Amino acid sequence: MNGDEEVMTTFDSPPRKLGPSLKVEVTDGVAVITFDMPNEPVNKLNRAMKDEFTALFDRIERDASVKAAVLMSGKPDVWIAGADIEEFLEFKTAANAERLSRDGQTMLESLEKMRVPIVAAIQGACLGAGLETALACRYRIAADDSKTVLGLPEVQLGLIPGAGGTQRLPRLVGVSSALDMILTGKNVRGKKALQIGLVNELVHPSILRRIAIQRARELSEGKRMPPKIDGGLKSLLLDGNPAGRMVVLRQAREQTLAKTKGKYPAPMAAIEAVAAGYSGGKGKGYREEARLFGEMAMTEASKQLIFLFFATTALKKDTGTQSPISGDIKKIKKLGVLGAGFMGSGIASIAVQQGSLVRLKDADHARVGKGFAAVRSELSDRLKKRQITPLQMGDYMSLLGGTIDYSGFGNVDLVIEAVFEDPSVKHQVIRELEEVVKADTIIASNTSTIPIAKIAEASSKPWRVLGMHFFSPVHKMPLLEVITTPRTLPEVTASAVAYGKKLGKTVIVVNDGPGFYVNRILFPYLNEAGLLLDHGVAIEDLDKALVHFGFPVGPVTLMDEVGLDVGAKAGKIMAEAFPGRLDPAKSFQAVVAAGRHGRKSKKGFYLYDDAGKKGAADPDVYKLYLASGTPISSKPTDEKPPGTPPPVAESEIVQRTTLAMLNEAARALGEGIIRSARDGDVGAVFGIGFPPYRGGPFRYMDSLGIAAVVEQLDELNQRFPGRFEAADILRDLARINGRFYPDDDSAPVPLPTLELD
Ligand code: NAI
Repeated sequence: MNGDEEVMTTFDSPPRKLGPSLKVEVTDGVAVITFDMPNEPVNKLNRAMKDEFTALFDRIERDASVKAAVLMSGKPDVWIAGADIEEFLEFKTAANAERLSRDGQTMLESLEKMRVPIVAAIQGACLGAGLETALACRYRIAADDSKTVLGLPEVQLGLIPGAGGTQRLPRLVGVSSALDMILTGKNVRGKKALQIGLVNELVHPSILRRIAIQRARELSEGKRMPPKIDGGLKSLLLDGNPAGRMVVLRQAREQTLAKTKGKYPAPMAAIEAVAAGYSGGKGKGYREEARLFGEMAMTEASKQLIFLFFATTALKKDTGTQSPISGDIKKIKKLGVLGAGFMGSGIASIAVQQGSLVRLKDADHARVGKGFAAVRSELSDRLKKRQITPLQMGDYMSLLGGTIDYSGFGNVDLVIEAVFEDPSVKHQVIRELEEVVKADTIIASNTSTIPIAKIAEASSKPWRVLGMHFFSPVHKMPLLEVITTPRTLPEVTASAVAYGKKLGKTVIVVNDGPGFYVNRILFPYLNEAGLLLDHGVAIEDLDKALVHFGFPVGPVTLMDEVGLDVGAKAGKIMAEAFPGRLDPAKSFQAVVAAGRHGRKSKKGFYLYDDAGKKGAADPDVYKLYLASGTPISSKPTDEKPPGTPPPVAESEIVQRTTLAMLNEAARALGEGIIRSARDGDVGAVFGIGFPPYRGGPFRYMDSLGIAAVVEQLDELNQRFPGRFEAADILRDLARINGRFYPDDDSAPVPLPTLELD
């Protein structure tokens, strides 16, 4: 119990502060508990809160004048955001984590068994341990607003719900709905929560408190029983009987294994905890939940996912005087977008949804119209998924204006150009722009490869020019790379970063250079994949190897997706920038020359049907670049004609492609392209899909051991001279037996940034 508390045996009105975060007001026998952590943007559950809650429950139990209680939040957008993840960093053993889980379970068990009914009046985010708290309450009412979401996101941190969530949720909403939430970690909104029985009522936020008090009183007087959930036929057939549950659990295991490929153990552990609660009763279920929580907390996957969580959180806060991104932030209200193509329309669509007034310009009306249609289609998709309302859709579309001259550009705060990837076109538009925009309008380029300093050459005010490199598809990809030149003003950078965050992106700030950071590390990886194809490795074998490593798709599929023509153009720029290191692979060149541009042309390395659905690798493709016209079989039983090159083992495929990427990431850090290993890890995971459970290239190199990385690079460099010359920073670290993250797993190593000229 907190020391500065008063000792009371009974509650009384007006509101009394119990501990630092809980306030109680009793009216006519109903205690309204308000949870509001001081100096914190959100409410979270940590050890101190557990003590505060336990003390409160004790008092309520002892106070005969209290007949019922309501649990509310004092934060406008958050009910309880979850457990305090900082405490997870202190786990040294599985037993430590298991203990925390047991303590949480015990606290919520005492909440569940309280003499008086407790009603959870939920407004705002109710996540993780927050939802587990709500589940232990006798009745749940959610506010019907867009901020109120409920979910168990633990698997996204490589963990499982550890405070009873794997036991209470399935019993409340049925096994299939519960697993759907637990295994994906996705949030559900109020309507869905009501539909599946997760909450008992959904009410307008303005009456939440009143209704909650009323229900609490009715429950205490026995006038209202929590209604039994009727999950319909599905529930009757599947969730409601043991045989049905067995089927659901079996299917869940199969689907989870297929999806996680054994790389992410938490979802399987969650299924086991749920299953244990059914096969051995609640007691066993809770014990298994705590044990598995402890086990998961010690996995490499969980440690890396928690690192990524803190890294992205730190990037969100990355402003102010301590940060290299200092400088006054200029509010961007009006945005100009040049080029209404694939990227331009994507950027426009996310910008209008943040309330920006957007002018979209292209060369002719037809193309502007196409851009409008793309924005509309993106918004319609969201409307269909009920993520936005028809009213919002109308509002957003009304923020979008089109032009074929620069009308309306006279008062924009920021222009993002997404015209063709051609320096002369970029120069031309910069000159045209500067005729019409204000003196302080920021000019950003979405180029993927052309150095920003080169683009800025056309500007009379190069200090206002920088890169804002979005990834495709813009609405889905979480990363934004902001690229500065030595001449970019700090306030220009700060404003672009702030706007990127407003658009919902995780922003890394990088220095200028060919390919910046993300494409710089992607190209050596893709190029190595191309050289493996040149050698005769089968397309599908190559892709499978990297999917086994943990990438969402293999490199050949990725090239087909991006567009082989686009890739070839960018590859040429990169090869020129790094002579001798990235000589283009024959295979890629031959396939592009044959007019196969990937999925968009329905022909690439793979076959596509009319709807663009990917099929098998096209056997005809091999004839374009292999003398034999067929790939090398990796099956030992297959007959090999004389002169066939040796097959390449999957381990070598992975080693060559990933080391090319890792080495380049190290170079980019050594050259000051990225500010820290942390930024490099976040950029690779969110920009390329580097396996999150490996933490990112730098965390992965740390786990391999830097000396081992250098040794492997040296071996490869002997076989393929010049391509695998280890980065200086790797040799330096290997010499001192160093790491990129020396002590604290979550702290990045800041390196001095290199002034580029
Ligand atoms: P796109 O070909 O779909 O769109 C380019 C648009 O710019 C076309 O509609 C074209 O008519 C228009 N345009 C050309 N010259 C213009 C001018 N002078 N004034 C106004 N509009 C003009 O190309 P996409 O894919 O949207 O790429 C645009 C930029 O984004 C390029 O710099 C590209 O490198 C970059 N980028 C592309 C990514 C991708 O995956 N496609 C990813 C990240 C960046």
